[in-house]
Amino acid sequence: MEVAEEWPEPIVRVQTLADAEAVPERYIKPPSERPNLNPGTALAPSETGSLPVIDLAGLSGGAAERRATMLAVSDACRDWGFFQVVNHGVSPELMEGMREVWTAFFRLPMAEKQAYANSPKTFEGYGSRLGVKKGAILDWGDYFFLQLSPHSIRNYDKWPVLPASLRAMTEAYGEELEKLCGVIKKVLSATLGLDEEFLHRAFGEAGACLRVNYYPKCPQPDLTLGLSPHSDPGGMTVLLTDHHVKGLQVRKGDDWITVEPVPGALIVNIGDQIQVLTNATYKSVEHRVVVNAATERLSMAFFFNPNDDLPIQPAAELVTPEAPPLYKRLTFKEYKLFMRMLGPRGKSHVDFVKST
Ligand code: OGA
Ligand code: NI
Repeated sequence: MEVAEEWPEPIVRVQTLADAEAVPERYIKPPSERPNLNPGTALAPSETGSLPVIDLAGLSGGAAERRATMLAVSDACRDWGFFQVVNHGVSPELMEGMREVWTAFFRLPMAEKQAYANSPKTFEGYGSRLGVKKGAILDWGDYFFLQLSPHSIRNYDKWPVLPASLRAMTEAYGEELEKLCGVIKKVLSATLGLDEEFLHRAFGEAGACLRVNYYPKCPQPDLTLGLSPHSDPGGMTVLLTDHHVKGLQVRKGDDWITVEPVPGALIVNIGDQIQVLTNATYKSVEHRVVVNAATERLSMAFFFNPNDDLPIQPAAELVTPEAPPLYKRLTFKEYKLFMRMLGPRGKSHVDFVKST
């Protein structure tokens, strides 16, 4: 399959549309996909709750506390595919610094940002769409995408030089997030009843990348989405958001549950590769982003992925005569190629690699 070299039509920065009176047609979703027409019945705010919140300090407590923490993680991965973590070890100053420095980046003059305009070849840089299909309905968001690991593929030419502290801040944040993902990998392995190093071995030398999403305010938020429904293709994602502005929604059965971010927390979710490795014991769950008329929203998604070239398949320990392997063996690189070929389509990528 050919990888598109360029976008199929001129790129419009959503940020330049924030003060428009109406949402241009290109961003208007068909009625069934709009945020105000959720399937199922509307839930009362108390029922929307927040995702399970897990205190990782429990991992260094006594045996009973440790067991309870692991059980909470295991339940969250089975029931939600998502959870929030507190006492995660990432410094609050670094989290605040990342929000500030990347907000400042998106507020720079357009010409400064355009110098980093991306292409669908690697997606690295400043982007305003993901799919390459001509005429597609677009999402109400701009982003900046960077490769962090392995370090050998870091391309500093694609990293913003302004604000001056952005580079060092992003590097330091990447280091801390890799450490956190190392801890979560062990916890997930153990909660599956497997050797603690199981995911570490399955991922090999991991890849990591960062997508900073910038959702400008929107004149008609009921007609569009900041990010269309999708599951994350990689291993796991750790999301840093602003707890003052909601926007992320997670699918739970037939409903879209609005996440209420806990101050200081990070949001963790399972990606497609862990769903495959665990033979769907842990779920990669669909999510989307809604926008609002009052204010912009920034989120930072740290994607932690298996090595591009290691085959990923359901773990032998999790396959039994009653639970046969659900997925074919594919490297993450092959999986990404499938995804590009199919284009954005909710959760169907992982369904596409089903073994039958
Ligand atoms: C993503 C994502 C959610 C958000 O970048 O994959 O799901 O709240 N982001 O921006
Ligand atoms: Ni996502």
